[in-house]
Amino acid sequence: MGGEQKSLRVGIAGLGTVGGGLLNLLADQPEAGDGRLKVTAVSARDRTRKREADISAYAWFDDPCELAASPDIDVFVELIGGSDGPAKRAVEIALGRGTHVVTANKALLAVHGAALAALSEKTAAALLYEAAVGGGMPIVKALKESLAGTHVVAVSGILNGTCNFLLTEMEASGRSFEDVLADAQRRGFAEADPTTDVSGTDAAHKICILGAIAFSAAPDFAKATIEGVDTVTLLDIRMAGKLGYKIKLLAKAERVGESVRVHVHPALLPVAHPLAQIGGALNAAMVDAEPVGRLTFIGRGAGAGPTAAAVAADLIDLVYDAHRPVFGRPVKALKQRGSVGAAEQGRYYVRLLVHDRPGVIAAVSNELGRAGVSIESFLQDPGEAGADVPIVLTTRPGPRQALNAAVDAIAGLEVTAAAPRVIPIEDGAGAPRNWS
Ligand SMILES: NC(=O)c1ccc[n+]([C@@H]2O[C@H](COP(=O)([O-])OP(=O)(O)OC[C@H]3O[C@@H](n4cnc5c(N)ncnc54)[C@H](OP(=O)(O)O)[C@@H]3O)[C@@H](O)[C@H]2O)c1
Repeated sequence: MGGEQKSLRVGIAGLGTVGGGLLNLLADQPEAGDGRLKVTAVSARDRTRKREADISAYAWFDDPCELAASPDIDVFVELIGGSDGPAKRAVEIALGRGTHVVTANKALLAVHGAALAALSEKTAAALLYEAAVGGGMPIVKALKESLAGTHVVAVSGILNGTCNFLLTEMEASGRSFEDVLADAQRRGFAEADPTTDVSGTDAAHKICILGAIAFSAAPDFAKATIEGVDTVTLLDIRMAGKLGYKIKLLAKAERVGESVRVHVHPALLPVAHPLAQIGGALNAAMVDAEPVGRLTFIGRGAGAGPTAAAVAADLIDLVYDAHRPVFGRPVKALKQRGSVGAAEQGRYYVRLLVHDRPGVIAAVSNELGRAGVSIESFLQDPGEAGADVPIVLTTRPGPRQALNAAVDAIAGLEVTAAAPRVIPIEDGAGAPRNWS
């Protein structure tokens, strides 16, 4: 494939945002990959659709699986999307016959990555996916190649630009989640169906992939714990702000003994935390690794140009025959690490809504004390005085189980007006210490 000075014949399936961006990028940069990248064929659903890029010079395939099976391509670029369906079938066909695959499809890799990696090894076909995580932010190669000599402790990130945009807008404008989402949809910053983004699923796909590379373990999407941004209220953003925190959708993969914990959830980050400073639709990933310490990557996680640039980088690797095993190590060397569920220990933000009556604070403190939960700070917002008032407290590090018991008891108090809200606090500790 792609021998010494031969061109790499590229077939592209999916001509939407990323596929169109890739065609335009390759047309604009004919010198990319030493001029040895040659698009020969394309596939999408509708041949007659008006497209950003000119496709008249390429062979057309109605069926991406037929393109994947074509002997006239050296690399199959899958830009259709979805964990199953035609994207999966076509990638399996290409890998099965020894044709290299480049994809931006995080859902496919998070759910079927281990099986696809095994197939890729069996036929010695590369499976590259820099664009699948962080779009134009080069975190896949950074973890797989540049940091291959380190011991990664944790990878955390803001991996969904739509969610970060929504949270940033809520904070800046003081508008509700529903308002900001509707506006973002009108302006094209959020999908017509935003479920995959706002539910945390998209970020979970991405962190599963990063966790697999970082910890030499097969991705295991089914074991990730996921909570989205759709439960974040303006009240919590405002109260967290008063305490010196921002609420972000945190995606994290971390070592817990011999296991890996992969989770996505809203978290309070101190304003000085590197990830708290990522605003708008940007993505960021923070790697804690020994002996290099903490590294932070920031970049544009989506969009035609940045994502196409990541796909092009993978194609250029193929031109020079420079690629690693799918998750950094051969499949047989990937550990069966198993996954553990949500964190059992930590600091938490707890927001209550209570009737404005004497004795409320004593009643709440009593339940917390009874469960052994130690309070770090306590804030009652005077501006909210009225029938029901928010009370916010942060806890000292302690078991989640004890906090859950206290919160259940508080929820049952006669003075409690609404279900308490608990959000984990990520204080940024846990950076490797022995960096010297
Ligand atoms: N958009 C981003 O910024 C971004 C960033 C990172 C990763 N990604 C990933 O990149 C992939 C593509 O995303 P996108 O935003 O470019 O999607 P998109 O704009 O919706 O384009 C999807 C393309 O796939 C084609 N397609 C859909 N179903 C098909 C089928 N059954 N058979 C053949 N072709 C089919 C569509 O054909 P028609 O054009 O004929 O309808 C369209 O050209 C996804 O995996 C996505 O998660 C996207």
